[in-house]
Amino acid sequence: MRRPQFDMTVFKERRAQLAQCAPGSAVILPSHPEMMRQYDVDHRYRPDSNLFYLTGWEEPESVFVFRPGQTPESVLFVRKKDVLRETWDGFRYGPEGAGSEFHMDKTYLIEELDAVLPELLKPVERIYYRFNVDSAFDHRVLAAQEKFRVSLGRTGRGYLPIYDSWELLGEMRLKKAPYEAGVLRKACEITAKAHVDVMKAVKPGMNERQVQGIFLGSIFEQGAAREGYNTIVAGGAGATTLHYVFNDQPLNGGDLLLIDAGAEYEYFTGDITRTYPINGKFTEPQKRVYEAVLKVQKEIVGMIKPGVPFAKLQDATISGLVDVMLDLRLLKGDKKAIIESGEFRRYYPHGVSHWLGMDVHDAGLYVVKGESRPIEAGMAFTVEPGLYIPANDTSAPAEFRGIGVRIEDDILVTGDGCENMTAAAPKEIAEMEAIIGQGKA
Ligand code: GLY
Ligand code: MN
Ligand code: MN
Repeated sequence: MRRPQFDMTVFKERRAQLAQCAPGSAVILPSHPEMMRQYDVDHRYRPDSNLFYLTGWEEPESVFVFRPGQTPESVLFVRKKDVLRETWDGFRYGPEGAGSEFHMDKTYLIEELDAVLPELLKPVERIYYRFNVDSAFDHRVLAAQEKFRVSLGRTGRGYLPIYDSWELLGEMRLKKAPYEAGVLRKACEITAKAHVDVMKAVKPGMNERQVQGIFLGSIFEQGAAREGYNTIVAGGAGATTLHYVFNDQPLNGGDLLLIDAGAEYEYFTGDITRTYPINGKFTEPQKRVYEAVLKVQKEIVGMIKPGVPFAKLQDATISGLVDVMLDLRLLKGDKKAIIESGEFRRYYPHGVSHWLGMDVHDAGLYVVKGESRPIEAGMAFTVEPGLYIPANDTSAPAEFRGIGVRIEDDILVTGDGCENMTAAAPKEIAEMEAIIGQGKA
């Protein structure tokens, strides 16, 4: 028997918390579908964060139904034990193992879902479910609603109202409990060390994919489960593509390398970007762009404390980066007009931050009652200003063309300020120049 990899009390406590938030409801969370990669091979499976968050359950073809206050309260539909399939793909718990090892009140075979779900809906007043992730499953939820309605007989009652489960759970996930902050901090520390390992190893002539390999080797050695998202390794002008995907070019001395990569540890992920010269020495134009972005990045981190509206971080970033754009002669004219027209987006087209946690772009509302949400202790997010000057931008001074810089750290808000969880990844020019390409310490 394969033992669960995680302490089940964590999931039980989260379910108890959810029961307080959603009385009278049924929360329906299907597993993500498996995704074919090629003939006979699927993409490596990564369970849905919300389903895992409440159960610790990692198998596909499963559905979790949670009905606060009802009996049974926690219900898991799972694949059957299957000796032949397990010979090929590995251990499955089956309904019995799922019940005992994952502390579920009741388990069923996944094939029983369509018959049992309408029964489970009978005592509840509303459903939480996220549509449009898996349209095939959407139809099953709608069919269960119909069966439920018909089963009531001639009452005139309609369907149960359906609310968004991701919004409900996003609010729970947004503020990290001390245990969660500890795991996230560990993911950030692993990520930071891997960035240092990459910095030490980078040399002109390497391919971007070799750099990715060094990052992966380091995070796996440190106990990470996987990348938190697709690693971006972009040499030279590739860095001006925000989510560069190719990772297949040779790295040229004289160019910058932008690496945006995070380790996932126990389902929480780090998200760090560092940008530095492949040959270990910034050119003057690279230095001007880099130092300007770094100054803005440090100013934004310095603003973070409880009570500050989240949107203020982006406003301050835009203000700081537009000053830089004017100073570097990327743009000309009036600062206010550039901000109001959105012209700055030519060189800074993204947000400075996103929530961080189990998903790299983590769940949780950014705007509450029409207002930007004030930052609170326990929230975690990135700070990642960048400046991207396309290689073919003939309106930019020639010396800056093809330079892309992003600097990204992961921040945990504390009672009176914040903690930079990724401070161990150097970002000062002198610190980085001292270790780039110098090999393992
Ligand atoms: N790695 C994606 C991001 O920084 O948002
Ligand atoms: Mn990010
Ligand atoms: Mn990133």
